[in-house]
Amino acid sequence: MIEQLETLSKELDAEIGMLTTEKALEEFRLKHLVKKGTLQQFVEQLREVPKADKPQVGKLLNSVRAKAEQAWTQAKELLEQQAQSSPSIDVTLPARKMRRGTVHPINATLERALGVFKTLGFAVAEGPDIEDDAHCFSMLNFADDHPARDMQDTFFVASEHSSDIVLRTHTSSVQVRLMTNQKPPIRAVMPGRVYRNEAVSARSLAEFHQVEGLYIDKNVTFAQLKGTLVEFARAMYGKDLKYRFRPSYFPFTEPSAEMDITCYLCKGAGCRVCKFTGWLEILGCGMVHPNVLRNCGIDPEEYSGYAFGFGIERVTLLTTGIDDIRLLYENDVRVLRQF
Ligand code: PHE
Repeated sequence: MIEQLETLSKELDAEIGMLTTEKALEEFRLKHLVKKGTLQQFVEQLREVPKADKPQVGKLLNSVRAKAEQAWTQAKELLEQQAQSSPSIDVTLPARKMRRGTVHPINATLERALGVFKTLGFAVAEGPDIEDDAHCFSMLNFADDHPARDMQDTFFVASEHSSDIVLRTHTSSVQVRLMTNQKPPIRAVMPGRVYRNEAVSARSLAEFHQVEGLYIDKNVTFAQLKGTLVEFARAMYGKDLKYRFRPSYFPFTEPSAEMDITCYLCKGAGCRVCKFTGWLEILGCGMVHPNVLRNCGIDPEEYSGYAFGFGIERVTLLTTGIDDIRLLYENDVRVLRQF
């Protein structure tokens, strides 16, 4: 029996070296370590061994069994460790696509618009979002009881020191800053965020972007204003665009006008988008009112100027075909990815 045990011990040594897979481990266990396995068979045979030899044989059997059990446990632990530290990699899997960010459609439109005015010789200027009544309204020739000052349109900022701090309702406030800080000639576009207390819908938001334009010099004419705006509209909306200027009213310009272009959807035939007029309004403009020039310290006898303002979101909707202005602010990547 001693001989048999020694043979088994040698066999075990060879098999232990091969315990590198789940399958080998299981085969080893079934062959040697279970109730009907080789080691248990020896335990049963031990009964027939003469009493005098029992201690020697028993000792050998124990050591062989201990070796088999230890080797099996160690190999199993090693295998488990390996599985944890190096998860199996399937090199044939296709690579996951790296998604690149894109410029937001509002910024892309803004950059395009500013680019057009830069080529026409306009500088770019900016002013603060939080303004006082003077820059936003009174210096722009708004009467004290003008409805735009009403709580319903304007967000007021709570302040200990002053009751007339507002979030600007238009970028025209930046015109005032330029005219009071610079000497003519002045030629600049002024992009920025504006705020109005309006119900959010598919067509309007309480916070949006405008670009203001201002040109002050000697002998500036309405014809120059039209030329500049037509150039701008053609660059943004296409060369064969149809447009019209319609008389309008703003307190800070005289005369005032609004510019319309043919409705992109019905091409002028009339539809829901253009309220069956065939036209879409794209901007407000006019010759700077003499009162505004005077308020800003510029002599209206010597200088004249024009101003215009338009909403960037509006242009973005018209040029991309997005039909709900709220989509521009939800930052849903499925929308943004398309631009
Ligand atoms: N500030 C006007 C608006 O918000 C637009 C405008 C700007 C009109 C400059 C005329 C001149 O509607």
